Amino acid sequence: MKGRALRAPKGTRDLLPPATGLWAAVEAEVHRIFALYGYREIRTPILEETELFARGVGEATDIVGKEMYTFTDRGGRSLTLRPESTAAVCRAYVEHGMQTLPQPVRLYYLGPQFRYERPQRGRYRQFHQIGAELLGGRGPASDVEILLLLVAFLRRLGFAELTVLLNTVGDAPSRAAYRAALLAYLEPRAAELGEESRRRLGTNPLRILDSKDPAEQELLAAAPRLADHLTPASREHFAAVRAHLDRLGVAYRVEPRLVRGLDYYTNTVFEVVSGDLGAQNAICGGGAYEGLVEELGGPPTYAVGFAIGADRLLEVLPAGSPLRAPGRHRGPVLLAAAGRLPESGDGVSPLTPIAERLRSEGVPVVETGARAPRLFQLAEQLGAPALAFVGEEELARGELSLRELGSREQTRLPFAEAADRLRRYYEEQP
Ligand code: HAM
Repeated sequence: MKGRALRAPKGTRDLLPPATGLWAAVEAEVHRIFALYGYREIRTPILEETELFARGVGEATDIVGKEMYTFTDRGGRSLTLRPESTAAVCRAYVEHGMQTLPQPVRLYYLGPQFRYERPQRGRYRQFHQIGAELLGGRGPASDVEILLLLVAFLRRLGFAELTVLLNTVGDAPSRAAYRAALLAYLEPRAAELGEESRRRLGTNPLRILDSKDPAEQELLAAAPRLADHLTPASREHFAAVRAHLDRLGVAYRVEPRLVRGLDYYTNTVFEVVSGDLGAQNAICGGGAYEGLVEELGGPPTYAVGFAIGADRLLEVLPAGSPLRAPGRHRGPVLLAAAGRLPESGDGVSPLTPIAERLRSEGVPVVETGARAPRLFQLAEQLGAPALAFVGEEELARGELSLRELGSREQTRLPFAEAADRLRRYYEEQP
């Protein structure tokens, strides 16, 4: 051995087959369903100027305060591996003058995000998000459009038992009024708060509402409520969103304590939770953000979006999800020689041209020298639907012998018929 074996950095993981097949199926579904709602893909850099997140996500948030992967590059610039993509999408919207396009602009993205968090099930330092942002929208109708997309996508993946938690954080004047009321209540009781929450009194008191600490929760139960400090405009906004959702039959639960961990939200916020994930149970978060585009140098722009944690989504993907259907995850057909085949003299196996012909007919194939029983083990490991054998007779007549693993039937067919039959395994999709 030359050196110590290296491992992927803490909190990151290799995604290997066959799991990557499921990731690809989810991604294919993202492209399909999001396009049904008129969303188009955007790809922004994985690196951004640090200032983007400091300004966009908020200096006082956990993300900016303690979770960013920030470094100085060789040119002396402070860059950060993106901890989320909403700020980057808004940066791109402004940079490319997308406000001059017909509004709203509907964008979606897929890709890795980076946060220095303590790794545990469902929480990684490199994780993946599937997100959508609607920019230049019209208030409640846009919030509802985004929620419809989210629910349709999750339904399509086979989720039936998810809960959409809905709340409003109000507009800026609502929050200023509420902040004052909350501080008036909490400051005299600061001694009863934990260290983290005491620190938040000075920076971001609304985040204290998110506390999971039982003692603090008790204290918070009697705290003033944001709902009582909403401006009439914010109250109407929230009522309109709920009325729309009711009318469209989208189930949700109002969660008055839901505040979200990023500073840019205004009015509508939401999360989707799944019971299967324990403490890290939010598979998706989002909301409206009316001030972010302007904060990043653009015009006042109504925007709303969400991001799904893809790692968590896959961890709780229902067993009966159509994306798990075997037809979507078949391995290649195994092509093997039956007995000894005549040598061609140049060292090329007579199986190779046959494999190439099958591939050109759309049948995934690997040639193998394995013999039974190893051959059957291999077929199982790779998820092969069938074995194809070529012996001297098949070679002479242009035929293939197929052994289908489901039915255990063995049939000898002319090449074209055999190819048709094998191709069907890869076409049958739910
Ligand atoms: P977020 O709530 O910070 O929102 O993240 C969205 C989702 O990403 C979470 O619900 C979770 O599923 C997943 N996630 C976050 N951190 C981790 C982690 N360390 N490991 C695994 N999964 C994680 C945002 O990022 C906003 N940009 C969402 C948004 C889009 N709001 C408006 N538009």
